[in-house]
Amino acid sequence: MQICLVEQMCTVKLKITACQIPLPNQSAVAMEAATVLRQRLGDKTPQLGVVLGSGLGFWADRALANPLRVPYMELPDFPRSTVPGHHGSFVLGELQGHTILCMQGRVHYYEGYSLQQVTLPIRVMAALGIQGLILTNAAGGIAKHLHPGDPMVLCDHINFLGSNPLIGPVKPDETRFPDMSEVYCRRWRAGFHAHLGRTGQAEAAEGVYLATTGPSFETPAEIEAFARLGADAVGMSTVPEAIVARQLGLPVFAFSCITNYAAGRSPGPLSHEEVGETAAGAEDRLSALLEAAIISFTVTNQKLEC
Ligand code: HPA
Repeated sequence: MQICLVEQMCTVKLKITACQIPLPNQSAVAMEAATVLRQRLGDKTPQLGVVLGSGLGFWADRALANPLRVPYMELPDFPRSTVPGHHGSFVLGELQGHTILCMQGRVHYYEGYSLQQVTLPIRVMAALGIQGLILTNAAGGIAKHLHPGDPMVLCDHINFLGSNPLIGPVKPDETRFPDMSEVYCRRWRAGFHAHLGRTGQAEAAEGVYLATTGPSFETPAEIEAFARLGADAVGMSTVPEAIVARQLGLPVFAFSCITNYAAGRSPGPLSHEEVGETAAGAEDRLSALLEAAIISFTVTNQKLEC
């Protein structure tokens, strides 16, 4: 009986230890996935990585020339989305002479993946040579001026996940305490807004994105609290990916599609279906904004220092 108890305690201790040091494993998984992906993609080095969120899932199929697709399921131990409406493939292709590596679908913390697993694809894309990262997502609008269908360019974020993807051992060539005072590259944003102006496109608002774990939507009291903290929009992704990208020294640009008024900002209940429908309806505008972001990165500077 006593031996049994000791055994049980050891098992628990081993499990805890395994949870606390997931990074070496994930590093190995990232390296293996990068090796397989590189073999599948041939000798093309991507310049930009793009994570396609709700409303942009099909963008890579429509916009990229000479697309090459690698489903996540073909990469060893690669996390796969369990959420309806989220695809699961890398797509590499050309846009205006530039090579773009897209993620059609991402995984979320609320699916039960660790933050290290959620951000593993960013490490894979970095290993493949991307020089900048564009993140897109769906979000609930908190600020009064944001309405369903509107875009919001992230100028900053609040990590309300209660954790951080960088917790755990750090590799010798990585920063332990990366600076987060300008996560979303100011120069890239300026280039983007200038491009919208030059091409006669409507202006896009900037705002602060707050990340929650989900998967339950927020209560009206939580949204009121987030508003007082300075959040303009709320969502369940992006922040872990942006943190890892900054640790790796990648410039980041991100925008949200406001798919709904956040809880308590409109009379009805929130639903995942509403999020999907609004994002699908905003597809054309989101595609134009994504292309503006890509053009303003490459036009501004091939090696943007942010
Ligand atoms: N809350 C959290 N995440 C979201 C929302 C929301 O209202 N809309 C889209 N993603």
